[in-house]
Amino acid sequence: MGTDQASQHTFTVELNEPAAEGVYRMRIRSSVAHAMRPGQFMNLAVPGDASHVLRIPLSFSRIDSKGGSVELLYALVGEGTRRLSQMAVGDTSTVVGPCGNGWSLPSGEGRALLVAGGIGLPPILACARMLAQERIGFDVVVGARTGSMVVLPDSDEVLHYGGVQLPENGWEGGYDPDRIVTLTTDDGTLGSVPGKKMFATDGMADLLRRRSYAQVYTCGPTPMMAAVARIALDHDIPCQVSMERLMGCGFGACSCCNVALAKGGYALCCQDGPVFDARELAW
Ligand SMILES: Cc1cc2nc3c(=O)[nH]c(=O)nc-3n(C[C@H](O)[C@H](O)[C@H](O)COP(=O)(O)OP(=O)(O)OC[C@H]3O[C@@H](n4cnc5c(N)ncnc54)[C@H](O)[C@@H]3O)c2cc1C
Ligand code: FES
Repeated sequence: MGTDQASQHTFTVELNEPAAEGVYRMRIRSSVAHAMRPGQFMNLAVPGDASHVLRIPLSFSRIDSKGGSVELLYALVGEGTRRLSQMAVGDTSTVVGPCGNGWSLPSGEGRALLVAGGIGLPPILACARMLAQERIGFDVVVGARTGSMVVLPDSDEVLHYGGVQLPENGWEGGYDPDRIVTLTTDDGTLGSVPGKKMFATDGMADLLRRRSYAQVYTCGPTPMMAAVARIALDHDIPCQVSMERLMGCGFGACSCCNVALAKGGYALCCQDGPVFDARELAW
């Protein structure tokens, strides 16, 4: 991992539409696409409100670095993301990136296990595409609170698994018949085991009973990532976590994105992360 030099780029909105309850899918055209690596994030400015000075940090789910487009999935949280959802096709603004370090490839041989919770999905999709491109086998658990919040694929390249359409579309490297994709919802309204209330960690535990893994990657709510990290480390599997913190500057100047370290002290999520080795963090 290493931090690349971030710079400001313009972007043009190519698509911006609802993808699930409270979640939007946006595609932008920007030269930032040439510089981004999976797991890194960018800071978008939403035009139109001079009082809203902070940019919005967002990971990406898919990138076409040759074509120059980036796909984002974002939850409607506050004023910034609400105004982002109102940007129309053809609107322009600026984005700063690439920010942060990004995912590392597994250090050992073997399959990887990817666990996404809620709006932690975008960097996990980017990770999946990175692994597929490297021909590294992987399985995925996608967890959501309820069925209406599950982000389903946007194209016809879908994987039908247990009667449920799952976000496996267009992962470069092609379809892997060995891949297991498990969908869980807290309330059981949609999922690989119909009607069963399951957390993403239940899906993870199930896969760990069936297969062995060389690396775990996770992104989602902090309590979920803490549980995923604990399970992974109990199984002696290295685990990379993509942390989320409230961000101000996004480039190491304001110290508002501290992440507590196991050895004591703090790292900056925006510069030293957002991806960390789970063993290095104080959970
Ligand atoms: C590295 C990283 C990657 C992220 N990737 C995604 C993603 O792919 N999809 C997604 O839906 N969300 C992602 N988030 C969270 C997203 O940045 C916040 O939901 C968003 O900033 C909320 O902005 P707002 O203006 O709507 O909310 P408000 O609460 O009005 O926030 C005002 C400002 O506070 C800061 N802020 C507020 N919440 C957060 C937060 N959770 N994290 C960081 N800064 C925050 C931002 O600068 C924001 O502009 C990511 C956060 C980080 C740190
Ligand atoms: S957001 Fe300012 S130091 Fe990280």
